[in-house]
Amino acid sequence: MKKITLPYHSVLSRPTFVYGVATSSFQIEGDIAGREPCIWDTFCEQPNTIKDNSNGDTACDHIHRWQDDVDLICELGVDAYRFSIAWGRVIKANGEINHTGLNFYIKLVEALAKRGVQSHVTLYHWDLPQYLEDKGGWLNRETAYRFADYAGVVADALGSKVSSIATLNEPFCSAYLGYEAGIHAPGPQPHAGSRRKQGRQAAHHLLLAHGLALQLLRQRLSGQNAPQLGVVLNFSPCHPLTDSTADREAAEFAHQYHNLWYLQPMLTGTYPHIHNQLASADRPSIEPGDMDIINQPLDFLGVNYYTRTVFKANEQHGFSDVPATGDGLTTMGWEVYAQGLTEILLTLDRQFDNLPPIYITENGVATDDVCDKNEVNDVMRVDYFQSHLLAVHDAIEQGVDIRGYFAWSLMDNFEWAEGYTQRFGIVYVDYATQRRTLKNSAKALQQLFLARQSQHHAVEDIC
Ligand code: FCB
Repeated sequence: MKKITLPYHSVLSRPTFVYGVATSSFQIEGDIAGREPCIWDTFCEQPNTIKDNSNGDTACDHIHRWQDDVDLICELGVDAYRFSIAWGRVIKANGEINHTGLNFYIKLVEALAKRGVQSHVTLYHWDLPQYLEDKGGWLNRETAYRFADYAGVVADALGSKVSSIATLNEPFCSAYLGYEAGIHAPGPQPHAGSRRKQGRQAAHHLLLAHGLALQLLRQRLSGQNAPQLGVVLNFSPCHPLTDSTADREAAEFAHQYHNLWYLQPMLTGTYPHIHNQLASADRPSIEPGDMDIINQPLDFLGVNYYTRTVFKANEQHGFSDVPATGDGLTTMGWEVYAQGLTEILLTLDRQFDNLPPIYITENGVATDDVCDKNEVNDVMRVDYFQSHLLAVHDAIEQGVDIRGYFAWSLMDNFEWAEGYTQRFGIVYVDYATQRRTLKNSAKALQQLFLARQSQHHAVEDIC
């Protein structure tokens, strides 16, 4: 079996470097009876939205199997588990708290803590309650204020028990894929302006939600047991298809539009330059004071990384992405491009003086896994983790402050518009039986994590 090895004396081998696995609520939980419907439930019901016409009704049935899943997480030898809370499992349509739902997360966090595993919580991983979408969703400014209320409830219940709270996961996906490209829930809305306008407005309200929630979390959670407060964003280096000026400009436009549009306002209170190049009808409506609210200090930045993106000039939209070709693509059709992780980390580090410490909050690959006699030989995934951990090591060597790494994902799950056709897990899920099987990648990571722990204990014994 292939192993994952790290350079001798790498920061990645230190006991302070946090290793974890990640999931999100809608992708694993199931049990829709225990929560309010969300935009993904509605989206799944529409024709031609999900590749295999599936939905999140059962997913990995985690709500009923969470104790076994906690055992699984512990067996892996991780330091931390990153998961998200389903907003509609915590706040009912009438605004009351759903105590059964909230207790689920309290029990989960307590069980993890008992076993020495840190909880890293994300408040919003795309499952907006449908009752808020019915009032305009992220196109309605009010949603940002409802998000802050929800954040307050979670802070009171879990704030002192978790290691970190991230407001949003990948607002790019919620805004751009959801309202602009229309391949994610809820899809573009009739009578709400151009798609570009909708994407930019949704992004602005998500950013506002982040700022409002962070202000409130900061007020409520201070002192010794306070969790680190931050956000999780996705980044992809944007490369030009050719060296032509037009393609280079397109790639730069895409970088500002997809990567910087979210991070820059949070760190500086300003949108990237291209904001001014957009037609005025496509710009988001911004109220006085919004940019200051968005510009809150962050304790950490979560970086999700999967691949790079290649762009070419497109007269109508300014840029368009060019699908990857060639050998060795993942089942998502994505190129494996580990050096892109080092590149984007260095780019951000060089651009922002106030870049907070970074956690790689998602990194992983979908492959064609086959479970044969309880064995899944996912060599491509082992290689992927190996090359991307080295990419993280390289970024640290060049001065970027990176504190941890979370593999996406703990287990195979509902991959949004791809349904269950894509397997990103390090644990294989047989959806018919819900049986979980450690893939060889899980075993390789487990070896790495356990070796590090035993080294750490040996040092402690000597001391
Ligand atoms: C990210 C999402 C995560 C998962 C991975 C493959 O964009 O945050 O939920 O779908 O991609």
